[in-house]
Amino acid sequence: MAAKKGRGQAGGKPGQKKRQGQRWDDHYTHKAKSDGFAARSVYKLSEIDKRRKLFKPGQRILDLGCHPGSWSKYAAQSIAPDGLVIGVDRNPTTPPHPNVKTITSDIFNLNADFKQDAPQGFHAVLSDLAPDTTGIRDVDEARSLELAQRALEIAHKNLRPNGFFVVKIFQGPDFKPWLEEAKKLFSTHNIIRPDATRKKSREIFVLLAGFRGQSAVEG
Ligand SMILES: C[S@@+](CC[C@H](N)C(=O)[O-])C[C@H]1O[C@@H](n2cnc3c(N)ncnc32)[C@H](O)[C@@H]1O
Repeated sequence: MAAKKGRGQAGGKPGQKKRQGQRWDDHYTHKAKSDGFAARSVYKLSEIDKRRKLFKPGQRILDLGCHPGSWSKYAAQSIAPDGLVIGVDRNPTTPPHPNVKTITSDIFNLNADFKQDAPQGFHAVLSDLAPDTTGIRDVDEARSLELAQRALEIAHKNLRPNGFFVVKIFQGPDFKPWLEEAKKLFSTHNIIRPDATRKKSREIFVLLAGFRGQSAVEG
């Protein structure tokens, strides 16, 4: 039986010609390393930010699924010197910048202590949360949507009026109905597929901006 080729093996033997996808992967991975970021996913957030000018000094940001810390570091650099990023992940994460605090927790069991650092709420909630993938498309899409829904609930409870929410989702059949509900809480929405996203990936990012306030009702 032929062995399955894992992601780490895609480059093949030394001297072997690399596939285009692998060269692309290497490009962003090397760039992240030389730019001082722990993961190449930083270029997804930076592209969204460059398009929409999201971050401003002084903001309070909640970053869900923050490990290993590249989004938190990017956001912290953008909101310094006096802003704050609170990163949450079930994996312990060393704060990647002096303006970042990290919390080790599952987002489904997140206790409310983090609110003390932003008594007036957060200017933004970011979610790059990703499930452990099974390779079964329906299962992975459903798990991704569950994480997005939980992130939306946290955003709804913790955003300041006019705040924004950036969320990653694997697009599946339930995405559109989910978006229809989420849109009711915000005044604008954009669906973005950054260049740094792998060509084969079904992930997209939704930017929902102009939060209408905690009293915004669904339905
Ligand atoms: C793609 S990574 C995030 C990368 C990060 N944005 C960065 O740039 O460094 C997705 C993260 O979601 C986290 N995650 C997935 N499900 C979670 C859950 N239920 N609670 C907390 N974190 C979770 C994983 O541990 C993983 O670190």
